[in-house]
Amino acid sequence: MKKKRVFSGIQPTGALHIGNYLGSVHNWLTLQKDYESMFCVVDLHAITVARKPEELRKNILEIAAVYLASGVDPEQSTIFVQSAVKEHTELAWILATITKISELKLMHQFKEKSASHEENINAGLFTYPVLMAADILLYGTDVVPVGDDQKQHLELARELARRFNGQFGDTFTIPAGYAVKKGARIMGLDDPAKKMSKSASSALNYISLTDSPDVVRDKLKRAVTDSGKEITFGQEKPAVSNLLTIYHLLSKRTIADIEKEYVGKGYKEFKEDLADVVVEFLTPFQKKYTKYLKDEDFIRQILAHGAHVATKRAKVMMETVKARAGLDY
Ligand code: TYM
Repeated sequence: MKKKRVFSGIQPTGALHIGNYLGSVHNWLTLQKDYESMFCVVDLHAITVARKPEELRKNILEIAAVYLASGVDPEQSTIFVQSAVKEHTELAWILATITKISELKLMHQFKEKSASHEENINAGLFTYPVLMAADILLYGTDVVPVGDDQKQHLELARELARRFNGQFGDTFTIPAGYAVKKGARIMGLDDPAKKMSKSASSALNYISLTDSPDVVRDKLKRAVTDSGKEITFGQEKPAVSNLLTIYHLLSKRTIADIEKEYVGKGYKEFKEDLADVVVEFLTPFQKKYTKYLKDEDFIRQILAHGAHVATKRAKVMMETVKARAGLDY
């Protein structure tokens, strides 16, 4: 039987935080065993926000190194850079012609990014979700593992697939999300009402994948907690629930089991132990990450091979799309 397909991607915009990791890559590791998986470094999305070319170049290799160091296996999965496969932009243009401006105006990410980059509200930032739809639909993707903040974009991709199929005949698979019980929305350590975010005003908001053990311990020590002393999961305890989620996902222990361990114990001990859990995860990760980054040729080899595989698949889809749309004179 044909394997189902997974597609996901991360923007190369600098060091990732554990929210990014737990909302995306963490789930890819399970999925890659059973699905035909494509994991993309979405550089064309990253340029919707102004950046220096030399920084972008470096960030692209870094994200590829994060994938590899996390355990994305190039033998099992296709790892590639978006701009290396021209069909992404080609399909994005065609999809843009069936996307309504009113739909794009509803996108939360556009609203947030235009508020934080008032000086550069460019057309690419506005049509960003169309390119993301193209990424997904180009490969007949069945499942898209992303964090909660990307759900609205995924919904648009589903809508565009249905619309194109309705107008031109069955072409695209309707992609589904990947339902995770926990981790799809890791909250800020300094403010559990908002998601953990790289663009947060304080570095105390997030734990970066490149943070040293001392920095991790300090950030967790200073992480906000809730009123009351109990270490329990629930709506009335948003800060502690967020910490418990991180603990659970990185230690692979159930929340109930962790809650039980901390009955009668205080926040201080809980946070110190959580810091150990995070450091235990980050130390081997960082070792591998540094090793990969030292071998840029190897990363480039993996990316070149990935682009080759992706291009072959993308060309097949584009031929069908163009034929359906009457672009095959
Ligand atoms: P990006 O690069 O902003 O984020 C990468 C992944 O991290 C997830 N994420 C989180 N998960 C849990 N808690 C958080 N606090 C948190 N913050 C971020 C994001 O949901 C995402 O899964 N548009 C996408 C990239 C993209 C893409 C695609 C993804 C482009 N094309 C096609 C899937 C399929 C983005 O900006 O992700």
